[in-house]
Amino acid sequence: MSRLHERLSAILTICQQMNSVRDLGALLDLVAREAAHLLEADRASIFLLDRDKMELWSKVALGSDDILRFDARKGIAGAAALTAKTVNVSDAYNDPRFNPAIDTQTGYRTRNLLAVPLQNLIDGEVVGAFEVLNKKHGSFDAEDEEVLKSLAAQSAVAIQTARSIGELTKENASLWREVEGQFARHRIIGNSPKIQAILQLIERVRDSSVNVLISGESGTGKDLVAKALHYSSLRSRRPFVALNCAALPESLIESELFGIEKGVATGVNPRMGQFQAADGGTLFLDEIGDLSLTAQAKILRVLEAKVVDRVGGRTSIPVDVRILSASNKDLDAEIKKGTFREDLYYRLKVLHIHMPALREIREDIPLLANHFLMECCRDSGKQLDLSPAILQRMMGSDWPGNVRQLQNQIKSLVACARKRVIGEEDLLPERVTQMTAREPKPASAPSVSLKNAVAELERQMIVEALRATGNNQLKTAKALGLSRQGLINKLKRYRLNSNETHLFGATS
Ligand SMILES: Nc1ncnc2c1ncn2[C@@H]1O[C@H](COP(=O)(O)OP(=O)(O)O)[C@@H](O)[C@H]1O
Ligand SMILES: [Mg+2]
Repeated sequence: MSRLHERLSAILTICQQMNSVRDLGALLDLVAREAAHLLEADRASIFLLDRDKMELWSKVALGSDDILRFDARKGIAGAAALTAKTVNVSDAYNDPRFNPAIDTQTGYRTRNLLAVPLQNLIDGEVVGAFEVLNKKHGSFDAEDEEVLKSLAAQSAVAIQTARSIGELTKENASLWREVEGQFARHRIIGNSPKIQAILQLIERVRDSSVNVLISGESGTGKDLVAKALHYSSLRSRRPFVALNCAALPESLIESELFGIEKGVATGVNPRMGQFQAADGGTLFLDEIGDLSLTAQAKILRVLEAKVVDRVGGRTSIPVDVRILSASNKDLDAEIKKGTFREDLYYRLKVLHIHMPALREIREDIPLLANHFLMECCRDSGKQLDLSPAILQRMMGSDWPGNVRQLQNQIKSLVACARKRVIGEEDLLPERVTQMTAREPKPASAPSVSLKNAVAELERQMIVEALRATGNNQLKTAKALGLSRQGLINKLKRYRLNSNETHLFGATS
């Protein structure tokens, strides 16, 4: 292999390494170290250009976080950055472009130096300069120039990526948190007092990292709430790791949660556990009621000591993890039976969120149904509506599978829809039986929710009629048997605007 060839393959290796470094400081260290080595230079420095202030900034030394700032209009690195050209100087103190002030500041004595612009070849932007100082033997030659130039071109791309990622994670972290948090919370639909209270709670705890236990039947939105808690918290830019405890065989739980050390057994690869993967972020333990007592004891230890012990490992690894857990089992009953540890329970349940069954929040059914309808229509490019009669039927049924069942119901209705308005007759016979209330309602069914339910239905009917009449108030009022003023009053009450039919006036 020729020498140039050898050096180019070294560059390739450096580039591969660069792409895996996401932290700007670490990236600059890596590139500088490799460049110095490759070019047989005593030192290498990377300067980033701040065009607004016409300054170059650089780290004082490898591994240090202290920053030096220079005037970009003076000195060789500045010349390379501002002219976007290579500058090769064999005798620094006899070159008028050389700025001895930097040597004075750093206490270094420069003999010769080579500087190239850090230019992203894709968009041509110069982000700084790359400089190597004091060739070990002689001075830098034309081949060195080529090598440094190709290294610089690659670094420029990696630096821009690391920079934008760094900016997103640090400077804009709060902005991101804001956007993501709202996004996560807004995906939870519901006007009922129960859902609204849950949303308020998520909002109230966004600055704290308390452990939250989310209980509720299957399909009530426990996963959704766990994500909303994470993405609206201070940990939102760190990992959200979800683990379904019920899906893990007993023999794998430990290695999955805590990881495996090298050399535990032949054929077993070392692995990072989920606690470590979630470090700084959130670990969501779903179906926590299915954990064995042994696994519970181990988790309790992590929560108490804030360290994990890998399988076969000798040292404990510190972790900082917020635990969200979910269960559709009644954990109080499990504790009484002796299958769930009470001490762990209180650690997990610093805050408790109980998701209501869909039959307890019937007034949200039309809202949810229309939400899923819109989603399905968007995906399938169809334009469909649900008739007031089918909505009423949906509000009356028991939904043992909760919101998930409703969602699936809408999916299949959309898939089979033959007309623009989906009506009761579109329900297949087996769906009707599924949807019919299985037990007679207790006489003491809460009247508040009936009132809300009726209001929601009224709102839906108005929306329907407005759509059908092309937002004509007079025709709508007539169709609904109302006076025009009566309709206007109701539009106000439901915060509906007849010009732009807001289906979800209160929530969107
Ligand atoms: N309040 C809600 N608003 C919007 N979608 C919901 C709501 N509750 C549940 N869903 C949807 O229903 C499905 C089941 O929810 P999920 O969180 O997986 O329930 P669980 O974890 O309690 O079984 C998901 O597709 C979820 O997006
Ligand atoms: Mg779930």
